[in-house]
Amino acid sequence: MTDTPSTPAPNLTTNSADMTSHYIHWFRNSAPYINTHRGKTFVIMFGGEAVNHENFSTLIHDFALLHSLGIKLVLVHGARPQIDKNLQDANINTPLHNDIRITPRDAMPYILEAVGAIRLQIEAQLSMGLSNSPMYGSRIDAVSGNFVTARPYGVRDGVDYQMTGEVRAIDVDAIKNNLVHNHMVILGSMGYSATGEVFNLLAEDVALNAAVALNADKLIFLGSDSGIEIDGRLQSDMIPNEVDRFLRGKDINREIHYFLQCASEACRHGVHRTHIISYAEDGALLEELFTRDGSGTLISHDPYEEIRRASIDDVVGLLELLTPLEDQGILVHRSKERLEQDIEHYAVIERDGMILGCAALYPLDDRSAEVASVAVHPEYRNGSRGADLLAFLEQQARSHGRYKLFALTTRTAHWFVEHGFSEVSADTLPEARYQTYQNGRNSKVFAKDL
Ligand SMILES: CC(C)(COP(=O)(O)OP(=O)(O)OC[C@H]1O[C@@H](n2cnc3c(N)ncnc32)[C@H](O)[C@@H]1OP(=O)(O)O)[C@@H](O)C(=O)NCCC(=O)NCCS
Repeated sequence: MTDTPSTPAPNLTTNSADMTSHYIHWFRNSAPYINTHRGKTFVIMFGGEAVNHENFSTLIHDFALLHSLGIKLVLVHGARPQIDKNLQDANINTPLHNDIRITPRDAMPYILEAVGAIRLQIEAQLSMGLSNSPMYGSRIDAVSGNFVTARPYGVRDGVDYQMTGEVRAIDVDAIKNNLVHNHMVILGSMGYSATGEVFNLLAEDVALNAAVALNADKLIFLGSDSGIEIDGRLQSDMIPNEVDRFLRGKDINREIHYFLQCASEACRHGVHRTHIISYAEDGALLEELFTRDGSGTLISHDPYEEIRRASIDDVVGLLELLTPLEDQGILVHRSKERLEQDIEHYAVIERDGMILGCAALYPLDDRSAEVASVAVHPEYRNGSRGADLLAFLEQQARSHGRYKLFALTTRTAHWFVEHGFSEVSADTLPEARYQTYQNGRNSKVFAKDL
């Protein structure tokens, strides 16, 4: 036996082989995400409410897990409820104007105390390595420091915000240097000015600026809701224009408002993916990052699903999609080598690194081409993906001056007919293709003029 930790892993002994195979299946399905995320930089922001929540220690374990999978993490924490409590106890009034706290100088010690206490709590929890906890064996060096430079928020609408500040600069080199050395960086809602003063900042503002300055791969907001709901339905993805439209609506809570404003701004400044996820739901962060459909809302510039020409890196994903259909005799078998040779002919639909669908276009002669290997992942059928792939190939064919398409199929005849193909005699195929057809599976031949 190897020297294994005495903790993690689901209980595989009490449950049946089903449970084991479910676990193995899940683990295999996570592998592409593990590879995709390794070495990437994620900025994760959560407020003081998350720190107070009973799920927080689980979240810390999840941060540790991400760290051990090679993800570079910058954690940004707020402290609003803790600051409110300290100020209330000290009988200090810090009014809000336009939802932003006006920070009198005499409030600063109480604010610093609240922010510092949270930082210490996070550091302590990250240091936990008990053999009966999921943190066993994970040595994490968490660092914090004067990475954020601030300037006063100033006087606006005649209101002096005093020690409330805004981010002026992020010390990118210092943060990157720590990330490269495998440290987790913790930023609080505080910034230091060139004059040696400390300013009270919005944690969302710190997170946004850090993500943009670091050119982070993801900005993740952990909030009290699962994500963005419209008409009672959770939106799994939104683009910045949809976000802007949503923000023009009424009754949007403060947290969501800030998250969305930052998400939209992040997208416009080169951070392509912002996620809004619940801190209260056990496992929501991992579900969002390691499953195809996620748990919250992704705000992204890229269309969530992209149709594009395939590259050699897609071969493994293509094999996963095509092999079961080949085994059922629905598609003709193509070896890995053949796929690699033919890869330039394929188009794929990709979602977050997973191949959901594919189709190939093989030139037959100067004027015609053959559509082949049209396949959509069984869980994603009936969503027009097949039709979209076909439209993509038709566009490609036209742009190469090929105005006649052929398709050979044994079981999908009606689908092609519904997409404008008609059955034709096999001898209408260009000569070379007709020769190979005769040795084939007696497929029906369909053609479409573009
Ligand atoms: C054919 C296939 C690519 C369609 O993908 P899709 O994303 O579900 O396609 P769309 O959403 O554009 O079309 C769905 C429609 O096609 C119909 N359809 C799916 N497979 C069909 C088939 N074999 N025969 C006839 N119609 C079919 C569906 O019933 C649905 O019709 P509806 O909207 O009236 O209910 C997909 O079903 C698949 O991968 N099949 C297995 C592989 C295959 O047969 N490939 C074709 C050989 S080249």
